[in-house]
Amino acid sequence: MNDYDVERMTEVLRRDGFERTEVVEEADMIVVNTCSIREKAENKAASAAGRYQKLKERNPNLLVAIGGCVAQQEGEALLKRIPSADLTFGPDQIPNLAAHYEKLRPQVQTESWPQTSPKANRYRLRLAQTEVIDVEDYQFLDADPRPSDVSVTALVTIQKGCDNFCAYCIVPRTRGREVSRPADQVVREVARFVELGAREVTLIGQNVNAYHAIGMPDGEDFAELLRLVDSVPGLLRLRFTTSHPHYFTHKVADAFRDLRTLQPWLHLPVQAGSTKVLAAMAREYSREAYLDKIAYLRTVCPDISLSTDIIVGYPGETASDFEQTMQLLSEVEYDSIYSFAYSRRPGTPAVELPDDVSAEEKSRRLTALQSLQKQITAKRLARLVGRTEQILIEGRSRANPSQICGRTGGNHTVNIEVPDGVDVDALIGTLVPVSITAAKVHTLVGTLGNDSLG
Ligand code: 5AD
Ligand code: SF4
Repeated sequence: MNDYDVERMTEVLRRDGFERTEVVEEADMIVVNTCSIREKAENKAASAAGRYQKLKERNPNLLVAIGGCVAQQEGEALLKRIPSADLTFGPDQIPNLAAHYEKLRPQVQTESWPQTSPKANRYRLRLAQTEVIDVEDYQFLDADPRPSDVSVTALVTIQKGCDNFCAYCIVPRTRGREVSRPADQVVREVARFVELGAREVTLIGQNVNAYHAIGMPDGEDFAELLRLVDSVPGLLRLRFTTSHPHYFTHKVADAFRDLRTLQPWLHLPVQAGSTKVLAAMAREYSREAYLDKIAYLRTVCPDISLSTDIIVGYPGETASDFEQTMQLLSEVEYDSIYSFAYSRRPGTPAVELPDDVSAEEKSRRLTALQSLQKQITAKRLARLVGRTEQILIEGRSRANPSQICGRTGGNHTVNIEVPDGVDVDALIGTLVPVSITAAKVHTLVGTLGNDSLG
């Protein structure tokens, strides 16, 4: 979601005459995007913004803008906390970024610069723009990438905000109510990305299964949207994220069997393995209901690879609750997990609960969970060794430019040795058979199959 927002910011600013620069000293404006999902992420963003103070002293025209969820939540308070910041703006204000810049820019140029500290300038205009657009008025920004920026994989948003109130989660407060993007816009954007060279599209939203812009009975809209996107000519692969288990229906599970492009990969955050903790989190499903959905999915798509999010140390999580999370991991056998220590977020319902699992215990649980998952991931990757998999080639490997890389349908990264004389550029964006020869900790190693060399 944050990468997606940065892409839109870049496009909005480009439309208004800005160019992105990799050289920070050359910039007229620095935009820091922030995330408030956990305290660690929040602190990281604030300290990044603080680092630009020195640059401002050297370049009186430089503006520092802080966007994202921390800016949305803290607005003016963030301006106070970070003296170098000129603008704080929330996610709904991205389309207005250039207009906000214009309001600030003349001030910067005419005031008594240069100065030693921005604090010294009494007249310096600073803005906190945190207005949230009403659900009825919300307009999705169409992606407007430069053709040369389009890669093999693209993200297409289908939804903003979230109407769920998971007790630990700040997202509904920072991103506002859920709005579903009209299906024709989604399909048009997918087609446009494909025209520009993308071959895989991931539909994104906070809770994609709650998508509701089509009007099908019983919340079947998301399954219908998948069907519509699946028929875009030239699209090779379709994925989506994130799903909330409560809204994950058999209809959507069936799509993994029935649709040409939908890949056998699902990220289905469980958060905890104990029904008691799930209830305290207001997740709206039990351990059993979650496991039933996974079991059904595996009957329609036996080879599906799964990933999840887990929070350890939620208020009230006992050692035996945690043990149930460990058991759930062993039972489901996810291909990968993202795991987090519970982080108290001001403004969420859970802030009322005592944060009663100590930091040491959270960290112990996290380590135990991650070492169990390491074994499970190893087992899941090992099962692919010896197989030939269809890999969508994305480009050269970052770590080793003599290799190319891509992903399996199950979303595992594969680094591939390329024999001399093979035209690598011709392979990018194509599906090639690759024999998987080895598994590393998180990735696979492969060699091009015979038919891909012809
Ligand atoms: N503390 C820890 N983890 C959190 N997440 C969301 N809020 C919190 C929090 N307060 C995790 C959830 C979610 C992922 C994106 O971040 O696991 O699925
Ligand atoms: Fe947060 Fe829950 Fe919404 Fe996900 S579904 S964004 S965890 S409130």
